[in-house]
Amino acid sequence: MEFRHAPVMPEEALRFLAPRSGGVYVDGTLGGGGHSQLILEACAPDGILYAFDRDRAALSAAGERLAGFGDRFHPVHGNFAEMAEALRASGVTGINGFLLDLGVSSHQLDTAERGFSFQTDAPLDMRMDTGSGPSAGDLVNELPETELTRIIREYGEERWAQRIARFIVATRTESPVTTTLRLVDIIKGAVPRGAWEERLHPATRTFQALRIAVNDELGSLERGLAAGVGILKPEGRGVVISFHSLEDRIVKLCFRELARGCICPRELPLCGCGHVPEVTILTSRAVRPGETETAANPRARSARLRAVEKR
Ligand SMILES: C[S@@+](CC[C@H](N)C(=O)[O-])C[C@H]1O[C@@H](n2cnc3c(N)ncnc32)[C@H](O)[C@@H]1O
Repeated sequence: MEFRHAPVMPEEALRFLAPRSGGVYVDGTLGGGGHSQLILEACAPDGILYAFDRDRAALSAAGERLAGFGDRFHPVHGNFAEMAEALRASGVTGINGFLLDLGVSSHQLDTAERGFSFQTDAPLDMRMDTGSGPSAGDLVNELPETELTRIIREYGEERWAQRIARFIVATRTESPVTTTLRLVDIIKGAVPRGAWEERLHPATRTFQALRIAVNDELGSLERGLAAGVGILKPEGRGVVISFHSLEDRIVKLCFRELARGCICPRELPLCGCGHVPEVTILTSRAVRPGETETAANPRARSARLRAVEKR
């Protein structure tokens, strides 16, 4: 299968990241390499890009695709949450910008055996890094019902979470739930037919929730934002594209916190904290893709972009 992923909000991402020749940039989510290619082109002739992915398949495919950029392009296997350590190990202590384009790639969704999709039967895996950590099958078969309920409710915003978790636990006592379509059947049995939404498969929210939990996506995002902003040089830019409200909320609150000056209690007449803002917010509200893009690329529909500049 060809490794393709149409980069979301390409013009907006470049406008806010503003790559230029001589700069050092990080693409925290290499995926199919679409954004990376644009950044490398925009920072020619001598800008440098470090591109992270937890998925070795993405790294090798995009690595091949971008090999023509020679030693300006550095693919790194790892979580973007650990970008500061990884960069430091390569002698890089400051960067001019980073981009995070969150979630899974079209390639990951389309590769049935990765277990991300509820459309095709496959082992329940869902790990971006197939070499580490528990799989979705491990969570589904081993977590207590209360924890499964919490994950499905919090990360999937699924109102039938408790019932789905109860049905999973009842099924797994007979035999382990090891495949995507078996889980889909359980979810379909748990969500009352009348509550199925017209344009949303009943398994969408539960699959999203498990994927987020398996990959600790929200924890990685919080740590990645802190790491990225921490190593930005003055006037360096951080750009994040998120795809659901849980991610966008984390980005919004984190940027707001970093942009805050004084954090003294309001009743204090004079500032005693000396706290200074680390960043300026460049997007007072999230930037959304244009209609032409959403018509051509359905994945872009839920995208929201936020950006900051280091002070
Ligand atoms: C939406 S895709 C990125 C697509 C890419 N921007 C492009 O234009 O082709 C997200 C990619 O980031 C990777 N990823 C997600 N979270 C990650 C993390 N915390 N650390 C490293 N890679 C991550 C996924 O494995 C996936 O390949």
